[in-house]
Amino acid sequence: MSIAGVAEQIVPVTLGERSYDIVLHPGLLATVGDRLSALTTSSKIGVVTDRHVASRYLQGTLRSLCKAGYDPTPIILPPGERTKTLGTIAKILDALARHKFERQSLLLALGGGVIGDVTGFAAAIYQRGIPFVQVPTTLVAQVDSSVGGKTGVDHRLGKNLIGAFYQPRAVLIDPLTLRTLPRREWIAGLAEVIKYGIIADEKFFAFLEREIPALLKLEEEPVIQAIKRSCEIKAQVVAADERESDRRRILNYGHTIGHALESLAGYRRLIHGEAVGIGLVQEADLACHMDLCGRDVVERIRSLVQRAGLSEQVSQASFTSLWGAMQHDKKVVGGRVIGVWPVRIGEVVIRPIEQQVCAAWFQSKHGRGSRPSSGRQPGKHPVRRKARA
Ligand SMILES: NC(=O)c1ccc[n+]([C@@H]2O[C@H](COP(=O)([O-])OP(=O)(O)OC[C@H]3O[C@@H](n4cnc5c(N)ncnc54)[C@H](O)[C@@H]3O)[C@@H](O)[C@H]2O)c1
Ligand SMILES: [Zn+2]
Repeated sequence: MSIAGVAEQIVPVTLGERSYDIVLHPGLLATVGDRLSALTTSSKIGVVTDRHVASRYLQGTLRSLCKAGYDPTPIILPPGERTKTLGTIAKILDALARHKFERQSLLLALGGGVIGDVTGFAAAIYQRGIPFVQVPTTLVAQVDSSVGGKTGVDHRLGKNLIGAFYQPRAVLIDPLTLRTLPRREWIAGLAEVIKYGIIADEKFFAFLEREIPALLKLEEEPVIQAIKRSCEIKAQVVAADERESDRRRILNYGHTIGHALESLAGYRRLIHGEAVGIGLVQEADLACHMDLCGRDVVERIRSLVQRAGLSEQVSQASFTSLWGAMQHDKKVVGGRVIGVWPVRIGEVVIRPIEQQVCAAWFQSKHGRGSRPSSGRQPGKHPVRRKARA
């Protein structure tokens, strides 16, 4: 990617007094210090990052902050999901207290979704809330986790079980940081990008179908367009429903089965976006089984997911364990799993799904040995009806 001639892109996130801008510009990291003056009156800035990101981008970020007159304190954490714990939050809070951070001092999250989630949560609770800014460096973080204000950590008994809604003051995206991202992480992030096309924008989906070879080569223009459109869609959905009481649930498309597979794989064999890629295809297939969409919708999604280099197969997980894992999700109401289902590319509906319907679908794909643990054998009574609203 070259820096020359690319205009800065700004996507507003409209949330009343909590509104902020997402700024997108190649090379932005070098000017990060200058961009903070409107966001804090304090010179103290905590830069939270992980070791991988620190080795590449911390020095440049600190240089830019010092040049702009700030007094940055780096807080470097181990990389990976295992860092998303209350123990890490305690460490960040210790560092802030030790360095005498005040109400106006700012936290900067420099890294992927893990860093963004822990930094945002620490910012939400230190002195009952200090400002924070997201500087996302993975594709997942640039198109998803840095926008919308969900912050938090995992618990032994569940992912993202502890947290707070807390909005950043700005999201500053430098797409050049994606150059150093491991390919596996890049491809996993594409699953979230494809998700936006399916839930909200057929034209964007068609753009992705056209540009997927260029995106896989990290070509500048399509990469910027893909990030920008993804952020616009996420911003729009979040602005309509900040606390996920209704519409925001559409962002969970692909995640009901995705999260279940991720947890069955112990969060190791599959990384989040890879699990979501499978979820995008399998949930469309399930929607088709429920007569909510046509086979053509499933095949278009399957084809794009495959071309992006993602898998779309559910492995040998038995139905019992899959349904069990789906039940542990936060999207469960009264024993029924609330799902998001495509009716066509660019439009989804939110509907609960019952165990028998899901079991019949699973058995139609996997045959014997995939029966649910409950008494009835759904295969003998193929259920082909729409899930109740
Ligand atoms: N808050 C939300 O709304 C939201 C949404 C989606 C995901 N998430 C959370 O985000 C996390 C996943 O985020 P992620 O996929 O960014 O994972 P991550 O933060 O673990 O980053 C993935 C890996 O890439 C490395 N890395 C980051 N930037 C890099 C760069 N530019 N170059 C080289 N290496 C780099 C990291 O060190 C790490 O090893 C999960 O915990 C998930 O729950 C939150
Ligand atoms: Zn996701």
